[in-house]
Amino acid sequence: MALKPWLWLSPHIAHKLSPWGLKVISYFRSTNVISNNSLDWQGLHFANRLGLAGGVDKNGHQIKSWWTMGPGFLEIGTVTPRPQGPNPGKIMDRFSPQKAVWNKMGFPNDGMDILAQSLEKLKKPYPTPLFINIGKNRDTPNEKAVEDYRLCYEKLHAWGDAFVINISSPNTKGLRDLQGPQFIKDLVSELRKVNKSRKPFLVKLSPDLSDENLSATLEAGLEIGVDGWLLTNTTLSRPTGIPFPKEGGLSGAPLKELSKDLLKRTIVFLGDKKKSQLIVSVGGVMNAEDYRERLEMGADLVQVYSALIYEGPFFFQKTLSK
Ligand code: FNR
Repeated sequence: MALKPWLWLSPHIAHKLSPWGLKVISYFRSTNVISNNSLDWQGLHFANRLGLAGGVDKNGHQIKSWWTMGPGFLEIGTVTPRPQGPNPGKIMDRFSPQKAVWNKMGFPNDGMDILAQSLEKLKKPYPTPLFINIGKNRDTPNEKAVEDYRLCYEKLHAWGDAFVINISSPNTKGLRDLQGPQFIKDLVSELRKVNKSRKPFLVKLSPDLSDENLSATLEAGLEIGVDGWLLTNTTLSRPTGIPFPKEGGLSGAPLKELSKDLLKRTIVFLGDKKKSQLIVSVGGVMNAEDYRERLEMGADLVQVYSALIYEGPFFFQKTLSK
């Protein structure tokens, strides 16, 4: 604990200060992408397989700082077409005895136009692939959701190496209902109509999906040409001993088994078709053993969020050097 002073602060304050902390640390460092167990996929080169999960850098303000910390790829967002604030009330908490994190943020972000302005300042080629996670505004009804995803894809197309379709956050009312086969087909068909070069589409799923819903969604994704899956977002379930409210998403160590379970079920379902799909495992990866285990289970890439809260930004370096 002594070396992790941010854990003495309230989760809210630590969350507010962390971008500044990262800026200070990275000021003295240069771009540093650790080479370890690389992957080449659809023309993208991943020097290592451990990346930054969606939600850490929602507005893309810390991209250059993260590039000094060693990850093999970054995901920014979730971004929505229009700017929006957080959900009302408390939006984040920690439960340190179980290395658990709770959030009810609801995609607070500056909107796609401001993100585009930040991305325009980056020099290409990037040191690592950059995924952009896109979502819908909370006041956009589900019947019009396709339009929000299309707007984000079209606006940000030039800067994303791949686009993550977020339909699994529990903090935007009704969003997880979009995980059905029809929406995936409608959405990908709409994105295909955008008159620009085709970028890979990845879909981020919830760990709370039943077998039946999971197979229907994967089947539809394969049929329409989804390129991969991010498994998983946060869970609405509450393992015993977790003191968080029943709404909001749980992440960190207590999500580990659910995330592994969805990874296992997906790989079994995909069978031979797995080879054509990029599988990114996220949820409860808290140390180097967890990271290696996900790769051994068949994940192509792995991401972290909660581990950065408990272990700090040197997590990539520590994990990849073991
Ligand atoms: C998230 N997560 C998330 N996911 C996403 O697709 N878009 C988002 O905006 C956010 N925002 C967000 C905020 C906070 C505070 C947390 C803790 C999480 C989910 C995240 O990307 C990841 O899927 C889960 O947190 C599980 O991974 P970890 O945290 O167990 O490594």
